[in-house]
Amino acid sequence: MTDTNNTSPGNMYFTALNRHTGPANNGVPAEPVLAVADIQGNILPGFNKSHQYIVCLKISDVAACKKFLKAILPHISTLDEVMAFRKVFRLLKRRLGRKPTNELKATWMNIAFSYPGIKKLTHDSDFQSEAFKLGLAERSSMLGDPTSKDNDGSPQNWVVGSEDKVADILLIFGGDEQKDLAEKVALIRGFAESAGMECIYNEEMNSIERDGVTGMEHFGFKDGISQPGVRGRLSDSPTDYLQDRTVAADVLPDSLLYGYPGQFLSWPGEFVFGYPSQTPDPLVPGSLRTEGPEWTKNGSFLVFRRYRQDVALFWKYMMITAKRLAGNPAFAGITHEKLAAMMVGRWPGGAPFARVQDFDDKTLGGEQMANNYFRYASDSCPVKLINGYDDKFPQAKADPIGLTCPLMSHIRKVNTRDSANDAGGTFASFNQRLLRRGLPYGPPLANPLDAKEPDPAHGNRGLLFLSYQTSIEDQFEFLNNRWMSNRFAPKSPGGDDLVIGQNGNVGERRERQGVVFGIDAATETVSTADQWVTSTGGGYFFSPSISAIEKVLSE
Ligand code: HEM
Repeated sequence: MTDTNNTSPGNMYFTALNRHTGPANNGVPAEPVLAVADIQGNILPGFNKSHQYIVCLKISDVAACKKFLKAILPHISTLDEVMAFRKVFRLLKRRLGRKPTNELKATWMNIAFSYPGIKKLTHDSDFQSEAFKLGLAERSSMLGDPTSKDNDGSPQNWVVGSEDKVADILLIFGGDEQKDLAEKVALIRGFAESAGMECIYNEEMNSIERDGVTGMEHFGFKDGISQPGVRGRLSDSPTDYLQDRTVAADVLPDSLLYGYPGQFLSWPGEFVFGYPSQTPDPLVPGSLRTEGPEWTKNGSFLVFRRYRQDVALFWKYMMITAKRLAGNPAFAGITHEKLAAMMVGRWPGGAPFARVQDFDDKTLGGEQMANNYFRYASDSCPVKLINGYDDKFPQAKADPIGLTCPLMSHIRKVNTRDSANDAGGTFASFNQRLLRRGLPYGPPLANPLDAKEPDPAHGNRGLLFLSYQTSIEDQFEFLNNRWMSNRFAPKSPGGDDLVIGQNGNVGERRERQGVVFGIDAATETVSTADQWVTSTGGGYFFSPSISAIEKVLSE
């Protein structure tokens, strides 16, 4: 079946497509060839490894640091290396009929520099981004972090990222095997120590698997499902795209707009400097995105936030509040799990609440061809895919005011999909996309609802949030300040992002609040001042191209 629904964003866009690019079947936009050997591998395709590690370093001897950079250059994984691995992985998977987890393994490393780090290494450091130059700790109160010393979330208490704990260099390692990862980390740390660098912070991140669901974060939800699809080619070949295209070519214009179903394509300048950026018209490339020094081409800003998650407190709230709501006949039978799913916008197993409201359909949650296929402003209907996949799961209905999936849900606060928002029309969400690359740190709780469960980690668990973007202000900070912590945006009446939103000091409107709908549009207000997520460190970094490290930063 093809998507012939006149209300689909694709069809709404159809007229515009013809106007700008001529007849639809000739309207395939020319996408730029990416500098695959120059762009670091974690930026566009992402390492996607279950075991990762972060190391933060401080430079003391600049000349020694430059030697260190030269020594580690061959260890920095590139975009083409990650894509080559992916290609072989898929070939083997097809041949073996299973994931080649024993046959194919890799361990990768990438590097990023803070503004103070860059200034130590080059005079050519005239960046435009105020946020990057000031650094995360300086911007933290604006992001809603507490400023009082009594609160763990205040930069004064951070484990990394403020005062003398601001890192110059951030290294990210990713690997299939913990042992290989540990060896690589030890090797590079050895180089760093010989260069007189101090390791001021290091932490391991591991993907969590529970009841057969992979890639979970600590509250117990499958994460990393929805990522922007990035336009761009790996070679001169016209269809050698970075991002898989799955919609059948004759389904226009959807085949030109999506990677995986529901995954809108963004121009690469949103994530890497030197490429076209997004315009209000998804098929028309914008101007080349640049930033300060010329050597920033093929590089990207990296935001790192260490979020501690109070898992027991989160679920205790869900239990108590679900019980209260269940007393209202319009919410009869609501469980703690369903309430939490409404607040996240997805069930723990990853199924979108927009598509299924009664139970956690783990098969849907794990199905890449369906788990991100839904919109908010218009009905969805199955779209014909290249591989013939037949999406038989219930389809999402138009839900412009959040009667089904609340406007306050985390995923609606950070991506409005086809629905207009306070920043503009149907495609306004495109300019705030991020490539999320974080993973959980700390051991998961086996049963978060059991208050008596021993917790050897004493609550020390959470998410090492990592995101790549070309504007810290318009992407990461925008989502935090303008949408997540704002009751009236991106759409009103919605509420704060209860799950993650941060709202100032204790006693200074820590309370977050939102609205959920029951039968016949009955409403209930949900609110809390509990700190389920506390920022405990981080930094703003720049992840340069290989050539910039070789010719500028290590020279
Ligand atoms: C402890 C902190 C956080 C947790 C536990 C968390 C959890 C989640 C989960 C479970 C999802 C759904 C899975 C998916 O769609 O991929 C999600 C999606 C998402 N999150 Fe978060 N998140 C956190 C912080 C943040 C922050 C700080 C931002 C941005 C400033 C953010 C941006 C996003 C985006 C853009 C999506 C995808 C939404 C979509 O495209 O539909 N998250 N997050």
